[in-house]
Amino acid sequence: MPDVLINDDGAIRTIRMNRPDKKNALTLAMYEAMAGAIEGAAVRDDITCLLIAGHASGFCAGNDIADFVDMTKTGALGAPILRFLHALNRAEKPLVAAVAGRAVGVGTTMLLHCDHVVAADDALLSTPFVALGLVPEAGSSLIAPRLMGHARAFELLVMGRPLTAAAAQAAGVVNTVVPAAELETAALAAARAIASLPPHAVAASRRLIRGDVAQIDGRIDAEAEAFRKRLASPEARAAFAAFLDRKK
Ligand code: COA
Repeated sequence: MPDVLINDDGAIRTIRMNRPDKKNALTLAMYEAMAGAIEGAAVRDDITCLLIAGHASGFCAGNDIADFVDMTKTGALGAPILRFLHALNRAEKPLVAAVAGRAVGVGTTMLLHCDHVVAADDALLSTPFVALGLVPEAGSSLIAPRLMGHARAFELLVMGRPLTAAAAQAAGVVNTVVPAAELETAALAAARAIASLPPHAVAASRRLIRGDVAQIDGRIDAEAEAFRKRLASPEARAAFAAFLDRKK
């Protein structure tokens, strides 16, 4: 089975992260597949809403930490990561997410680009960037403070304190919290509701609401440069080694 499943059903394209044995930690190939699915939807008139999902066992454990270690050797942030982040920011079609269990790192920051997020009551969102010696990414340093205010953004992005589903709803990241067993149905219903609206009016409204995406593109690149430098830092190397050695 591929690590990302892409399924078109009527007007809805579902992009499902599918690496459950690794809690949907994202590899470079997964970023490529997800970016391609988002970019490809832009030229498909019949697809009018995208649904990003994981599994009941977890939404996404963030970037694969073994890949981070490889990046410390090359000194470059993988191009597929940036392709995915810009594709998210530049998405033409509305994005709905269905989040169960853990959403870590980019698993959380990708939600800041979504138009509608449905969370299971067991969802837990966290961004342990600083504990890993890293900095926030995906435009989150710009979007999160706008959304939830500086203090809550600092608590999430710098202090690394997790948000429960209810706290994420209060912070404006999550729209609806549902029992875990109802997540997929509720997220699909939201996607269908958006898909049933006049698509050109949705697109025009979405553009107005999202504002200056070029500014977010610029922030994604600035964060990526800081992130790339931090990857090679002794703090980050030690944190990656601690994670990879923790079961030994
Ligand atoms: N990169 C690489 N492997 C990861 C991973 C990641 N980001 N997240 C989870 N995995 C792997 C684990 O190493 C483990 O592999 P193994 O079975 O070969 O030992 C497997 O996925 C299951 O993870 P495990 O930690 O046993 O599950 P858990 O339910 O106890 O905890 C998490 C789940 C997500 C809380 C925990 O795995 C975690 O903290 N992951 C790292 C998250 C992270 O820091 N991401 C980077 C953010 S910038």
